[in-house]
Amino acid sequence: MLKLDRVHKVYRVGTFGTDRLTAVSDVGFEVHPGRVVSLIGESGSGKSTIGRMVLRLASVTSGSITFAGNDVSQLRRHRHRKDYYRHVQGVFQDPFSSFNPIFKVDRVFEMLRSEYFPGTTDPEWRRRMGESIRTVTLDPGEVLGKFPHQLSGGQLQRLLIARALMLDLRLLVADEIISMLDASTRIDVLNLLGDLRARGLGVLFVTHDLALGTYVSDTSVILRSGRIVEMGPTGHVFAKPQHPYTRSLLASVPQLHRSWAEVDAELSAEPDGPCPVHTAADTEVLPGPLVRIDDDHFVGCSGDGTGTRC
Ligand SMILES: Nc1ncnc2c1ncn2[C@@H]1O[C@H](COP(=O)(O)OP(=O)(O)OP(=O)(O)O)[C@@H](O)[C@H]1O
Ligand SMILES: [Mg+2]
Repeated sequence: MLKLDRVHKVYRVGTFGTDRLTAVSDVGFEVHPGRVVSLIGESGSGKSTIGRMVLRLASVTSGSITFAGNDVSQLRRHRHRKDYYRHVQGVFQDPFSSFNPIFKVDRVFEMLRSEYFPGTTDPEWRRRMGESIRTVTLDPGEVLGKFPHQLSGGQLQRLLIARALMLDLRLLVADEIISMLDASTRIDVLNLLGDLRARGLGVLFVTHDLALGTYVSDTSVILRSGRIVEMGPTGHVFAKPQHPYTRSLLASVPQLHRSWAEVDAELSAEPDGPCPVHTAADTEVLPGPLVRIDDDHFVGCSGDGTGTRC
C-alpha cells in the first residue's frame, strides 16, 4: 500500500540556506493494510521527516514514496491531492497545536465537512460525526461544543483520530501521538490503534520509545542518523537484535529487575560491536546497505561504510 524506496532527504540549513543536512538516507520499507509499522529512533534520527514526507509536508530529495502505486510527490492536481488525503492522514505529538484555541473543537470537523462533504445535511453530518467520535470511545455529548483547553490531551488526540476516520482512511501516520499522554490514556489510544488495525487500517507509528514500538507494531524499523540499522518483524527484532545499536537501545530500556549500574556496565562492555553488515560475507547485500538475516529481518550499517564497525 505505502512503499518507500531509497528515500533521501537533505535539508538546506544555515543563514543563507547554503549548508546541507542529510536527515534521511536510503530508507525503504512498506506499510500494508491492517499492519502497524513502528519507526523507532532517538531524537533527530529522521522519524518525523519520514512521516512528513509521507504526508507531503516535506519534499523528497531523491527516491520515491508511492501509495497504491502512485508517486505521492507527483500529485499535481488538487483533485489528486484531495483523494490522497482522503486515504492518508496524520496525527501529531501535540494535539493542542492541531486545534485553534479560540474556536470550539467542532471546527476541525466543520473544516473537513466543507472540503469533503459539502452536500451533507446537518442531521446526517451530526449522525456521522457522532458515530466516528463513539468509535474512538468518546461521548459526543461530552466533547463537542467545548474549547480545546476544556478537554484533555488524550480526548483531543482521539478527536483528531475520529476526524480522520470520517474519511475513507487507509493509512494513519501517528507521530509520537502518545508521548504527551498519561499512562492510562496511553493505553486507551494504543488499544484504539489496535482496533483500527483490526479493521484494516495501516499505521505508521513514529516513536522514540522502544517499549511502545514493541507493544503496538507488526514491523519495527530502527533508525539511527537517518539510516535504517535494523528492520523486521517486531518479535524477531526484539528477540534476536542483530545490530549493536538495537542491542544497546534494548539494554537501555529501564527494567524493574535490573539496576542502572548493571545496565551501564553491560553497555560500556560493548559500546559498538562489530558491524554485522561488514562481517556478513555470505549474506545477500541489499541497498542501504542492508543484509538479510532471515526472511524479513534486515540489518544495516549507519557508519560511513568504510570500516568494519557500524
Ligand atoms: N525543516 C527542517 N529544516 C532543517 N533541518 C531540519 C528540519 N526538520 C528537521 N530537521 C533536522 O533533521 C534531522 C531529523 O529531524 P526529525 O525531526 O526528522 O527527527 P526525529 O527523529 O523526529 O526527532 P524527535 O524524536 O526529536 O522528534 C534533525 O537533525 C533535525 O534538526
Ligand atoms: Mg519527531
